[in-house]
Amino acid sequence: MEAMHASDPRRADVALAAVVDHLRLGGVPQPRVDAELLLAHVLGVSRGRAQALALVGSSLSVAEAARFRELGLRRGAREPLQHLTGVAHFRRIDLAVGPGVFVPRPETEVLVEHVLRLLPAGAGRIVDLGTGSGAIALSVALERPDVEVVGVERSPDALPWTRRNAATVGAPNARIVEGDLADAVPEWEGSVDVVVSNPPYVPDGMVPRDPEVDRFDPAVALYGGADGLDPMRAVVATAERLLRPGGGLAVEHGELQGEAVRALLGHRWVEAATHPDLTGRDRVTTARLR
Ligand SMILES: C[S@@+](CC[C@H](N)C(=O)[O-])C[C@H]1O[C@@H](n2cnc3c(N)ncnc32)[C@H](O)[C@@H]1O
Repeated sequence: MEAMHASDPRRADVALAAVVDHLRLGGVPQPRVDAELLLAHVLGVSRGRAQALALVGSSLSVAEAARFRELGLRRGAREPLQHLTGVAHFRRIDLAVGPGVFVPRPETEVLVEHVLRLLPAGAGRIVDLGTGSGAIALSVALERPDVEVVGVERSPDALPWTRRNAATVGAPNARIVEGDLADAVPEWEGSVDVVVSNPPYVPDGMVPRDPEVDRFDPAVALYGGADGLDPMRAVVATAERLLRPGGGLAVEHGELQGEAVRALLGHRWVEAATHPDLTGRDRVTTARLR
């Protein structure tokens, strides 16, 4: 076996420590977690196995060491981890993501909980407006196989990812539709049980704090006009058109937008309520159509 020294950059622990340091310098929020996940990705193993290999000072091949270093440099420049690994984990599914599609966030998993609560037992119809990677639509389709799901997406850059994920998940009750959320699914007017959306809601003049968001999430997924709520107004109008009486709406929004979103819901809505996410921030509003 080739002799290895403690500073050998091909030793997994040495390479890992170098990438952790680099990510820390780049201001990456969880440098060790991300470095371990990148090492795991390069080696094609679980994060636990990557940790174990580093712990015993295993040797990386020249190609593995070079690839790990390259991905470390890109993550240090704040390219999203999920773009580097090509995968975003969301509830029970692994979604393919990359340039052109919004990376689904853990807090949106809570939005799905609200959808599941609003859906009737036995059967139903749900529409996900601005489905992006398909995270919400495909999760609901898998977790409620008795429900018919339509995911609507307008972006030609996002749609190939949506379609790829729909094919991988293979839920026969999910359909992806290309189009604008404002006039989506006319054939289901007045018959839908739940409309869900995580629309763009960042005010146009605001610059997102995280470089990953600002530089890599598509602008069409982020910005929503002067107050950020133009797409939300269209979502509410579409929900009023699609929902049956008593049908539910569940939308994600910025933590300071709960009151403004409730104010958008006029006299046709009841039970409007804003709910906190796992970190206590108001991120979801639900309501029912009269
Ligand atoms: C914040 S992302 C959410 C994506 C996904 N639903 C999620 O939660 O991860 C908003 C999505 O809405 C799409 N979108 C924006 N405006 C739209 C419109 N007018 N019609 C349809 N989709 C739209 C964007 O392309 C983007 O995929």
